[in-house]
Amino acid sequence: MCGIVGYVGQRSAVDVVMGGLRRLEYRGYDSGGVAVVGEGGLSSAKKAGKLANLDALLAEQPLPDAGTGIGHTRWATHGGPTDRNAHPHLDDTGRVAIVHNGIIENFADLRDGIERSGRELESETDSEVVAFLVQERLAAGDDLAEAVRIVCRRLEGAFTLVICDAQNPGVVVGARRNSPLVVGRGEGENFLGSDVAAFIEHTRDAIELGQDQVVVITADDIVVTDFDGAPAETTEYTVDWDLSAAQKDGYEWYMLKEIAEQPKAVADTLLGRHDADGLLQLDEMRLSDDELRGVDKIVAIACGTSYYAALVAKYAIEHWTRIPVEVELASEFRYRDPILDQSTLVVTISQSGETMDTLMAIRYARQQRARVLSICNTNGSTIPRESDAVIYTHAGPEVAVASTKAFLAQIVACYLLGLYLAQVKGAKFGDEIARIIDDLDRTPAAIQRMLDDADVVRKISAELAGATSFIFLGRHVGYPVALEGALKLKELAYLHAEGFAAGELKHGPIAVIEEGVPVFVVVPPPGRGEVHDKVVSNIQEVRARGARTIVLAQDGDDSVVPYADHLIRLPEVPTLLQPLVATVPLQIFACEYAAQLGHDVDQPRNLAKSVTVE
Ligand code: AGP
Repeated sequence: MCGIVGYVGQRSAVDVVMGGLRRLEYRGYDSGGVAVVGEGGLSSAKKAGKLANLDALLAEQPLPDAGTGIGHTRWATHGGPTDRNAHPHLDDTGRVAIVHNGIIENFADLRDGIERSGRELESETDSEVVAFLVQERLAAGDDLAEAVRIVCRRLEGAFTLVICDAQNPGVVVGARRNSPLVVGRGEGENFLGSDVAAFIEHTRDAIELGQDQVVVITADDIVVTDFDGAPAETTEYTVDWDLSAAQKDGYEWYMLKEIAEQPKAVADTLLGRHDADGLLQLDEMRLSDDELRGVDKIVAIACGTSYYAALVAKYAIEHWTRIPVEVELASEFRYRDPILDQSTLVVTISQSGETMDTLMAIRYARQQRARVLSICNTNGSTIPRESDAVIYTHAGPEVAVASTKAFLAQIVACYLLGLYLAQVKGAKFGDEIARIIDDLDRTPAAIQRMLDDADVVRKISAELAGATSFIFLGRHVGYPVALEGALKLKELAYLHAEGFAAGELKHGPIAVIEEGVPVFVVVPPPGRGEVHDKVVSNIQEVRARGARTIVLAQDGDDSVVPYADHLIRLPEVPTLLQPLVATVPLQIFACEYAAQLGHDVDQPRNLAKSVTVE
């Protein structure tokens, strides 16, 4: 997901824009650039690689002082991460500079038209065509806002565009369709950003832009219209976290900070959801109790870690409500001709609220008349805006690409939804719900215990140094935990790591077990009887074939001791809540192991924090 910054005001546009881009680095990128417009016209600089490369270029060839500027950090889609493909892109007359996030699906036709008119584009990107098209409209006499609106009506696909004009200092124009753009309202200055981190140190007064809207910012004014020029409705809000919340607070990695924030993320997500009698109230619900009583099927849709949260939720929601829950990968969902109708509740789960696969699944589901409820961690993002209802997780900004605190908060939010449905449908008595809520209220302390025991995991990480292939096993809600543990290690250590349902071992995967292969096993609480005993047998099976077993088992469960090369103790919690504690050591392990390998834990290679392309 690209980072975008726009600025108009009295300060140095280069400084404001570069500062904003630095705060957006976490989104993952492979080039950066900045353009400014002053009395002397338009100047720009761009460079492949990290922002340090752009800083070096600017030190060598400083841009003129100006109060109008735009900037970009690019995560390559069309065209490799090169200087030429970096943004901003200018038209061949040098009048217009644009930065873009998203994919312009009809760019090839637009490019052909520009080249047939005898003009030459220099990059391989889809974005560059926009600079040429806007310049054509300006040359035809349109002002910058109208020129952008006309061009936006010709574009297909997903785009956030921020544009400036050499002949128009003091104005920056932004536009969005299917991709995020927020406005920051300052005093005598205004900002644009792909998210609020771009301008949070200057102002927390934000305006979220809706679909197909164009915004014009000057130092003193913000005007929003639709693509046809009609005034548009906007939503003003105050950002509820400050920049320090998005800083590392002394941790080596954002990921470590966010792992440590999990007790608070869970507690904050639970906060204010139930009254003194334990009855649930989900005020962002926006779906009536009658509508919820009519739900006869739930389809949970997400990607990556959020998909694993949905897998965990399935066990609890079906158990509490007896409503069938299908769990779908967003990128597969709409291509399998799914069966949906107005009695289907689609629940999407997304930390960023901008994942394109998930957003497109929402659009498809709504076309099929299903109701959509989103569980999201990012206020003002696109997915909640396009859903019928939302339950926000309150995990705070999650900066590290590898999702951690959002995952636990998502599970909690899913459980709140399941309990709310059980309450509305009368599938559970009030006292039963209150008891489960009490158990949930105790999980922050249980999670904190796992954080306090982190050295046990760090020691295991050091002892496993050199291993290059890892297996993760679990049953029941421990199975999605095994999948998540494998994903964390894969995305951070760039090594083979695979999760299996422990019962699946004998159907093939056990063939990969050989001397020394590390196998993590999440053991259900002993109270689970048969399921627990079967997992203990699975540990014996892999150990008999030479595996090195790292066993996660509840305090006092000594049945596993003879088969555990390494033992990670879990606090006693109800089975359905075990993912909230068992996941933590797997997160810590992945972070430690990757750091041991010298990797950038917060910005793993090839990955971005939010995947806003399909
Ligand atoms: C998780 O560690 C990954 N970064 C990735 O799988 C992520 O969970 C996925 O892309 C979904 O993102 P979202 O929750 O923002 O929609």
